[in-house]
Amino acid sequence: MEDPVQAAAYAGADFSEPNQLFIQQFQQHLWPLPETGNLIDLGCGPGDIIVSLAPRLPGYKLVGVDGSEPMLRYAADRTGPPLAQRVRWVNAQLPALGNANGHYQAVISNSLLHHLHRPSTLWNAIRELMAPNGAYFVMDLLRPHSEAQAAAIVTEYAGDEPELLRRDFYHSLLAAYRPREIRAQLAAASLPGQVRIVSDRHLIIYGRGG
Ligand SMILES: C[S@@+](CC[C@H](N)C(=O)[O-])C[C@H]1O[C@@H](n2cnc3c(N)ncnc32)[C@H](O)[C@@H]1O
Repeated sequence: MEDPVQAAAYAGADFSEPNQLFIQQFQQHLWPLPETGNLIDLGCGPGDIIVSLAPRLPGYKLVGVDGSEPMLRYAADRTGPPLAQRVRWVNAQLPALGNANGHYQAVISNSLLHHLHRPSTLWNAIRELMAPNGAYFVMDLLRPHSEAQAAAIVTEYAGDEPELLRRDFYHSLLAAYRPREIRAQLAAASLPGQVRIVSDRHLIIYGRGG
């Protein structure tokens, strides 16, 4: 999503329903977190999830990482004072994240997994970034059973969105994984975790450090 037109379409779309689902499931499965700490959002896009989480985690410093500069400009625009003191946006392309190993009490990611050429990129990054007392929470799309089901989901949930977004959503659904595949990815990455389907098009993956 380094193309400014694609970033503008994404940043302008209404993702309030999946974002609320993310926050609600995150709280259900990861609460309580240590009172103070560091949180990182991998593939943060226009930053909506960090902006929603920051007031719920007043003792935290939050970092949003994304490979798209245009996306991060939208994120920066959404971070007025006083949030700006605790939130940092970093332009980096996974797996190249610099040296922050073991630094984060919470590692989160929404809708990045299906974008990556290798899913292990996400799981390895999470394993390395998580502090010993840390936890992770990932939400992504659930691959439908057929192209026809994917098309029906696009019509139901994005029927009014621009063609560019509908096409991206369709291809994203087909690029996403099923729970069994994700369990195999976690095992290969030696990352303990639970996988749950939480809607007709979303699944979550979460776990805690050793
Ligand atoms: C579907 S968007 C999700 C954005 C955000 N997490 C949200 O929930 O709205 C996927 C984001 O992942 C970013 N991305 C894709 N591959 C990446 C990579 N290898 N490293 C960092 N960011 C990446 C894209 O630039 C895009 O902003």
